[in-house]
This record gives sequence, structure tokens and C-alpha cells, in this order.
Amino acid sequence: MKEKIKEQFKQRFGTDCVIYASAGRINLIGEHTDYNGGFVFPGAINKYIMAAININGTDKVRVYSMDMDAYCEFGLNEEDAPADQWARYIFGVCRETIKRGGVVKGFDTVFAGNVPLGAGLSSSAALESCFAFALNDMFNDNKIDKFELAKIGQSTEHNYCGVNCGIMDQFASVFGKKDCLMRLDCRSLEHAYFPFHPEGYKLVLLNSKVKHELVDSPYNKRRESCERVAAALGVETLRDATYTMLADIRDKVSDEDYRRARFVIGEKQRVLDVCDALERGDYETVGRCMFETHDGLSRDYEVSCEELDYLNDVARECGVTGSRIMGGGFGGCTINLVKDERYDNFIATAKEKFNAKYGHEPEVINVIISDGAHKEMD
Ligand code: GLA
Repeated sequence: MKEKIKEQFKQRFGTDCVIYASAGRINLIGEHTDYNGGFVFPGAINKYIMAAININGTDKVRVYSMDMDAYCEFGLNEEDAPADQWARYIFGVCRETIKRGGVVKGFDTVFAGNVPLGAGLSSSAALESCFAFALNDMFNDNKIDKFELAKIGQSTEHNYCGVNCGIMDQFASVFGKKDCLMRLDCRSLEHAYFPFHPEGYKLVLLNSKVKHELVDSPYNKRRESCERVAAALGVETLRDATYTMLADIRDKVSDEDYRRARFVIGEKQRVLDVCDALERGDYETVGRCMFETHDGLSRDYEVSCEELDYLNDVARECGVTGSRIMGGGFGGCTINLVKDERYDNFIATAKEKFNAKYGHEPEVINVIISDGAHKEMD
């Protein structure tokens, strides 16, 4: 990918360039907890967005997307975001960097990626983090703090893309480290790296190929439900809520909001339980928690879909240790923790059964936990 981007850059803009990249992410557990001040447990993966960049001496940004075969340019002083969704991510990152007092000058760029779109692997966070990292390196002597880089991406989603997301995806993309999962406390932003080598197990994603699109999805509605319950409880976020507190206000919130909050309260604790279990090498507990998360996301939070529930059922039938829908939901992948000896049968069965029911096989993505945002060395 690197060579192709470089070559395309040379053809289009006729100059040399520097290459930056950032990664998509998985999340072992801790879904829809980030915007509730809870815990998440993601890691960056070896699927990247890569950009070739060079300063162009103007106040314009000129962008070519290789995957879309589309071109866009915008001025750094323009208030209006470009019409194309893909270009808004880059526009937003420039604006949000400037808003925070960072320097951004005109540049040319060509970018491409291999993070599957709409699979729940955060291709958009990878794109934002790639450019936030690059602008910091090119124009700001890397003085912008890494959390600020993640927030630049998150604010881009809020202000230019209509997704009121939490911090998890951008955090994972910016902070990702090879072979490590990261537990993040989304309230204090305290975080810890956990080396992840599940001896005897494989971590594999099955992409249902049901396109998940958080823009215009009920994602923002889920967040509003949580905020309503937090307000009814008189707490800042559901981080401070317990089952007992929730039971006390049951008749003051709708049944739907009640169930959303019930999921979040359980999920907060599951992240901590999974981290403890991992330290003991207790993968059975990790897997059990993953199944619990799936059930909660499907029944209480209602962000699953028929195809993902089916993949989860097949995983149970095949004796998979843990399986659940991953990411925002409404399509995308399941994440599965599978014993080595059960792996081949699980993959073959899932492909065959899913194909028989839905007319296509799920895409198998083996997870390799990798570094996040970085500059590519020659
Ligand atoms: C999306 C959002 C994240 C997070 C997850 C659900 O990926 O971008 O902030 O809320 O959904 O855990």
C-alpha cells in the first residue's frame, strides 16, 4: 500500500512526501461504556489508513482518496465543510486542530486504507487519527498531547459527521501498541497496557457484511437514553450508577431507557472482571463475559441484528469460548475467542451455515494487535 500511495502522490503532485498511518481497532469488552464514563478494553489492529503528505506552501488542502478515486480541495480558512463525507473527516481534523491553537498549513495528500468500511473496525477513527498525528508531527513539533489528538478525532465526529461518539476508537487508534490491549477509564483517562497472548486460543472476527453506518443510525439515541437515566438519578454519567439506584427510579424512566442503563451498569463491571481474569489466564471467564455482553447488547441495548445474533448462536453451538457483537452495532463483526482445536470447525461451520441462510459467507479476519498512529520509516 505504501509504495502505491507514494507513486500516486508523485504522479499527482510531482513532489516527494512523508507517509503516516493509523490503525483500526478491536474491543475485547466494554461496549457503549465510553460515553458513559466507564471502561473500555480495545487494541489497535494491523488494518490501516495510510496517507502520503507534503506541505504545499498555500493555505489549501488538496486531497485524493485512492479507494474512492475522488478528489477534493478546501481552504484552511473556510467555515463550510466539504459535501463529501470522506473529506469532512480531514477537514474536521484540520479545523479542530486549529481550534485548539495548533498550527495547520496547506498540504497535499493521497490516502488509502485496508480497514474494511462499515465493519465496526473504526475506519473513520483511523482516518482522523492518521491526520491528527500527521499535523502534529509536520506543523506542531509533536507538542499536542496524545489525548488531545484523540479528542480532535472525536470532535470531528461530533461537529462534522453527526456521530456523538465516545473516545474509545480514537484512543485505540492513537495509543495502540503491538501485542497489547489497553484498559481505559473514560472518565479519568487513566489507562494501562495489558500484554495479550492468549496461549492456546485465537481471536477472530467474523464480518457479517451487514454495513454498519453510525451516521444516521440510532447510535445517538442510545446515548440520549443513557443521559436521561443519569439525569433521573442525579449523577453526571452512568459510571456512578448501580443496579440498586436504577431499581429505585424504575418508574421514573421508560422501560426502554431502563434496559439501556441496565446493560451499561453490567458492562462497566464486566471490563474489570475480564481484566482480572486475563491476569489469571482465566479465558473461560473472559469468554463468559463476552457472551453476557452479546446478550445485553442484543436484548437490552438493542444494537444487534439478525445476522449477528445468528453468528453468535453458531459460535455457541461450536463450543467457542466467547463471542459477541463488537463496536457500535447495527451490523459489522462478531469478535470470537476460540480454542485452537475448535477453530477450524468453527470457521467452516460458520461459513457454511451463514452462507446457507444469508447467501454469502462472513469474512474471516484474524486479529493481529498492532501499533497505532505512526510515521512510516523508509
Ligand atoms: C462506536 C463509537 C465508540 C463507542 C462504540 C461502542 O465505535 O465510535 O465511541 O461508543 O461505538 O462501544
